[in-house]
Amino acid sequence: MSDVWEIPFLNPKAKERVGYPAQKPVELLERIVRISTDAGDTVLGPFCGSGTTMVAAELINRKGIGIDISQDAVEIAEERLKKPCKTESRLLKTGIEAYKTKSDIERAILNQLDCDVVQRNKGIDGFLKKYYKNAPVAVKIQKATENFNDAVELLNNAGKKKKCSATILIRTQDDSLAINIPSNMIIIDDYKTQLQHKLVQFLPNVSDLYTE
Ligand SMILES: C[S@@+](CC[C@H](N)C(=O)[O-])C[C@H]1O[C@@H](n2cnc3c(N)ncnc32)[C@H](O)[C@@H]1O
Repeated sequence: MSDVWEIPFLNPKAKERVGYPAQKPVELLERIVRISTDAGDTVLGPFCGSGTTMVAAELINRKGIGIDISQDAVEIAEERLKKPCKTESRLLKTGIEAYKTKSDIERAILNQLDCDVVQRNKGIDGFLKKYYKNAPVAVKIQKATENFNDAVELLNNAGKKKKCSATILIRTQDDSLAINIPSNMIIIDDYKTQLQHKLVQFLPNVSDLYTE
């Protein structure tokens, strides 16, 4: 076990979720209880909230005693302990690597723009780490399967949802230009497209090199 634990937050539909505001994942409390006690020991949760510590204790054969100043918390914890359960995390099972969908080139571009990477989102590949005009700036890299217009539309819609002040589209294919590029969208050609443009500019016939 390393000294940094990666434990996913509870998703809204997780079966262990009981709606208590400060509820922690059973996975977290289970690890803490496991490394600090032996089977059969008794664990005290003096600020037990929804009872996660006692649920974890119960699931790995420890006894639990909970205390909380809030009557609501006590009732929720009691109810929860009638059927202690833990949500299996698909992320932990499959490993974080399985969720990383970016190619090396895409990662390099996002890295050079100093972005936080976003996985599994059709419209956004990352956000600049710095805000512009007090709002996020979304970045998208055009996919090989998308034409330019589709990429513009996907990014524009996603950027609106995230209330972005600006968006950046990295154009990876030299196909037709979009008719309506939103005024807050910046278009930047990727390295390959820029190189092709330069070559074609100086050696007009070089475009034959790129026809497949
Ligand atoms: C962060 S929550 C615990 C959440 C819990 N780990 C869970 O997963 O649900 C802290 C709890 O401490 C309780 N608390 C605050 N002051 C307290 C006190 N003086 N005595 C007992 N409980 C207290 C609150 O009611 C709250 O439920």
